[in-house]
Amino acid sequence: MLEIRPVASDEELERCYDLWDAVFPDGRAFFQERLAYDRTYRLETTWVARVDDALAAAQQIFPYRARYHGAAITVGGIGNVATLPSFRHRGLAQALLGRQMMWMREHGFGLGLLFTGIPDFYRQLGWQSVPLGTELKLPRARVFAAASTLDPAIHVRAADPSGKDLAALLDLYQRENADRPWTRIRDRGYWTDLQRWTRKERLKIWLAMRQSEIVAYLIVGRPPSRPATLVECGVRPGYDASLAGPLGVLLHKLWAVAEAGDEMVALLPDTHPLVAAGVEPHPYPGTMAAILNPRQFEDDPAWKEIDSPATASRLIARRFANAESGFLWPLDHF
Ligand SMILES: CC(C)(COP(=O)(O)OP(=O)(O)OC[C@H]1O[C@@H](n2cnc3c(N)ncnc32)[C@H](O)[C@@H]1OP(=O)(O)O)[C@@H](O)C(=O)NCCC(=O)NCCS
Repeated sequence: MLEIRPVASDEELERCYDLWDAVFPDGRAFFQERLAYDRTYRLETTWVARVDDALAAAQQIFPYRARYHGAAITVGGIGNVATLPSFRHRGLAQALLGRQMMWMREHGFGLGLLFTGIPDFYRQLGWQSVPLGTELKLPRARVFAAASTLDPAIHVRAADPSGKDLAALLDLYQRENADRPWTRIRDRGYWTDLQRWTRKERLKIWLAMRQSEIVAYLIVGRPPSRPATLVECGVRPGYDASLAGPLGVLLHKLWAVAEAGDEMVALLPDTHPLVAAGVEPHPYPGTMAAILNPRQFEDDPAWKEIDSPATASRLIARRFANAESGFLWPLDHF
């Protein structure tokens, strides 16, 4: 007998952690912390497929609000898509995702978003590949070449996002992303929860200070056995966001701390000034989207045009067109 539904208890959620641990290389704690330290987490967002009462597959919806041209759209990030090897090729993952999409439609989600290396799997359920940011490498030589022109009055210190720097960081992030479609709307709880992660690359936020004012922030990660990555950055309006400004100071000072070697990987909005300093720029691969409730885009007359999967596809393509420079910072990926 097949049963597809949200998890019914904390005990069943624990079994999902076991399943994800068995399927993915990240380790059980990664999946547990991601949900346990999210104050907005609800059991109804974790879905399972049970076959004759055995837990066979599990998937997670990561709900959040995103900016979209003055509107706030509820997005369902899809992650942790996993079926135990002995239950694969029976349609379980597709059925689970299909049910999650129905649930999200009923609960007012406007858009589904996911990151994957197997796009064909999701295309079968109407998901479309979309552009969302530029990936590149920042060469050490360029960062250090810009160093001599940097403002010596700017100094660097670690942030305390759960304490005295919380309001300033929230403000800086909001200003930086106010006009950037698809960025996550974050509140105070978001920044506080971030501190509880033990994943080191998500913990440390560095600030560029001019006297007592925070003029920029930078998060650099060094995931296990992967190259150093520029995870996120923000600059106060009025300051130069290229290597010649406070981000240049931060990168120069933190290069050694991040053990970055000759280059640092970065994922940035297409129009970010740092993109010009990078090499090998290419569209970030593997992002897919599905429009769940066209009416959430109701300021946008195009939703009335949707009368078939083909028009929905065209609408998705337009909503993610490069000219819009939509983006989701890696900290918010799922
Ligand atoms: C991907 C995964 C969830 C599919 O689970 P499943 O329950 O077997 O999926 P379904 O039976 O619903 O669908 C299977 C179909 O999906 C497609 N598919 C599955 N894995 C695929 C892959 N790696 N690449 C491309 N297509 C794939 C195929 O069309 C397949 O059809 P087939 O059974 O006739 O070969 C499962 O293989 C898994 O857990 N993989 C490891 C974790 C993973 O990669 N998760 C996805 C991260 S984005």
